[in-house]
Amino acid sequence: MHFLIQYGKNPVLSLAEIVTYLATRSIRFTLLKHTDRYCLLDAAALPSTTIDDLGGSLMIVHLFDPIEELTFETFDNLNFFHEAIKGTKTDKISFAFVGFGDTDLALSVLQDYVKERAKQERIRYLWINKSKGESFHGSFSRAASRKESVQIVAYEERGAVRIGYATGVHDPFAFRHRDLGRPEQRSIYSIPPRLARILLNLARIQPTSTIVDPFCGIGGILQEAALLGARAYGFDVNGKIIPKAQANIDWLAKEVGIDRNQVKLAQSEVNDLSKKCKLGTIDAVVTEPYMGPPLRGRPNREQSNAILDELKPLYAALIREAGKILRQGGRAVIVGPSFMLKKKLVGLPFDHFAKQAGMKVVNPLAGQPVDASVPFADFTDRHRTIRQIWVLEKQ
Ligand SMILES: C[S@@+](CC[C@H](N)C(=O)[O-])C[C@H]1O[C@@H](n2cnc3c(N)ncnc32)[C@H](O)[C@@H]1O
Repeated sequence: MHFLIQYGKNPVLSLAEIVTYLATRSIRFTLLKHTDRYCLLDAAALPSTTIDDLGGSLMIVHLFDPIEELTFETFDNLNFFHEAIKGTKTDKISFAFVGFGDTDLALSVLQDYVKERAKQERIRYLWINKSKGESFHGSFSRAASRKESVQIVAYEERGAVRIGYATGVHDPFAFRHRDLGRPEQRSIYSIPPRLARILLNLARIQPTSTIVDPFCGIGGILQEAALLGARAYGFDVNGKIIPKAQANIDWLAKEVGIDRNQVKLAQSEVNDLSKKCKLGTIDAVVTEPYMGPPLRGRPNREQSNAILDELKPLYAALIREAGKILRQGGRAVIVGPSFMLKKKLVGLPFDHFAKQAGMKVVNPLAGQPVDASVPFADFTDRHRTIRQIWVLEKQ
């Protein structure tokens, strides 16, 4: 089956997450195409939870084979209408139409077709919107906010049109609620839930996994780990933050029904990590450590080097300790600081730290026809310090 997966704001990171997620679940796939907005995959059926499990993807589309003629008959032969509404439970459905490429005509015909079939089947449709992939987000959010909504997609491929329907749409409201709804907040230091998800998937988290966040703060990564079904241990040197992280976990348990005992919290300094966890047993260390002081402007070379020098011992300790508690093949996915100096990102020597800790920097996109490697950068306008995402594996 062919799937088009629409990315969130960081295409390379999204692709790395998808590729790792599928490989972790032994789902065979071939990457057919990667652009800065979506990828095209040939894969076996995807788990129904895929879109909810991923942090960096907006929509998964099942694409039919390229069609020759845009006619109602062609669509009927594909059983298109029934396939698209399969799984909806009411007779009141919202339809949204989305195009990738030069698909205006296809979208119009599809819209007429859906109108006609809906009338025949006595399905009331509430709302129709057309938009191009480029400006898709607005319409998709509105559609996703409605329970019974179906996204119909037209995709142009070398002059031919393929049609499809979304099998999963990311729910931005659930992510926003977890971010802004939790009782304890610490805005500039906490990691967005979508990024926490991506890091966990890059670490190959599954419901059977045990993960550790040694710089847990108010528990953003722990929350997402628990939602993915994993067990999580959170540590932080700041004893006052531990009850706050606990309050957020308790809130999540009430909101979505995770088991609060999936997450255990304690005060600890990162240098003591190997005294707190059984050596060689942990599946993944996923963390965003202290990244240096908040900055007013973009630091120059001297200032950047001073910040990086100050942070070196902390990151060296983290990677050394992670190397001790991880099982063989376990991963450490770590956000590190970096600065843009003369159009080049300068960060910390993770390769060196990894070697000393019996670990290796790995590239989740190795073997894929994509020119990208670790560290992946995650730019945000808000931060002068640019997040670099590193993936390390215990040898
Ligand atoms: C960037 S925040 C973590 C944010 C967290 N991922 C979240 O979403 O809330 C860094 C945290 O590291 C903690 N920290 C700083 N130095 C530490 C150390 N040496 N050992 C353990 N924790 C430390 C701080 O108290 C702070 O809560």
